[in-house]
Amino acid sequence: MPTPVILDCDPGHDDVFAIWLAAGDPEIDLRAITTVGGNGKLAHTTYNARVVTDLAGIAGVPISAGADSPMVRLLAPAEWIHGDNALGGPELPQPAVAADPRTAVELIRDTLDEAGQPVTIVATGPLTNIGMFARIHPDRLPLIKEIVWMGGSTGRGNVTPYAEFNAWTDPEAAAMVLGTGLPFTMIGLNVTHQVLVTPGVMSRLGAIGNRTAAFGVELLNYFNSTYETDQGMPQAPLHDPVAVALVARPGLVSTVRTRLDIELRGTETAGATSVDLLGKLKRPPNASVATGVDIEGFWGLVEDAIRALA
Ligand code: BDR
Ligand code: CA
Repeated sequence: MPTPVILDCDPGHDDVFAIWLAAGDPEIDLRAITTVGGNGKLAHTTYNARVVTDLAGIAGVPISAGADSPMVRLLAPAEWIHGDNALGGPELPQPAVAADPRTAVELIRDTLDEAGQPVTIVATGPLTNIGMFARIHPDRLPLIKEIVWMGGSTGRGNVTPYAEFNAWTDPEAAAMVLGTGLPFTMIGLNVTHQVLVTPGVMSRLGAIGNRTAAFGVELLNYFNSTYETDQGMPQAPLHDPVAVALVARPGLVSTVRTRLDIELRGTETAGATSVDLLGKLKRPPNASVATGVDIEGFWGLVEDAIRALA
């Protein structure tokens, strides 16, 4: 049976591939998409989610807008990577799909209530919506099977020397979600930087020949160019779908049980993820943290999913 999933995201180029993988892979039953301010303002990330689901022929998956800003900090959209509208590159077609009138928290609540079994939350942006849900509906947390998050790093960051963008944007939310004690898996930059958009990846995507793939190639051309300018990486890492891949095929991503803490107060390190791989802090493990990915297996999964779309 496919795994029921709620995808909480901030599209964003790589979030788009997370949506497509979740919708196109037979092992995932995508029940809802919720959006958050992150890579772009909430209006953009929500609009973009509608555009890319409609374009890919994904029907019947409600999309709800959530938090427009982090819990206690100001939003600083990643325009330097994703452009002014969070989806720089291709011209965006007008989506026929409307947003669901419920808030993200309400859609998560209803989806959990109606599922009849625990649901996995895959989060590929700042954890604001999930933190809000935990605060408003603590009684419903047992309805969540696990949380798999693209964020953080076991090493250095990408938005400050030690903080990754999703963790840095809303570290208080990340700490709150970790504090729920729900099973939590972090897929950080140490792993997502292994899945690079190489010329080979681009030509295999281009060869798929459907409109989703063609749009994806346009997205990735833009993504590679901003990654080269901002990060010195002409082959961008396609972070977010790795979180979906772990749920779809757990064997593709290796993880370790360890201690994870989020830095909230550092003068230079706010949003850093402290991953105690050597157990130096003598604190009980509270998370699974990704340490490796089957690169070829990952790209094969992404290609197959896109091939299954429009
Ligand atoms: C993360 O930040 C965003 O720019 C990407 O969408 C990804 O979720 C990588 O640091
Ligand atoms: Ca993202």
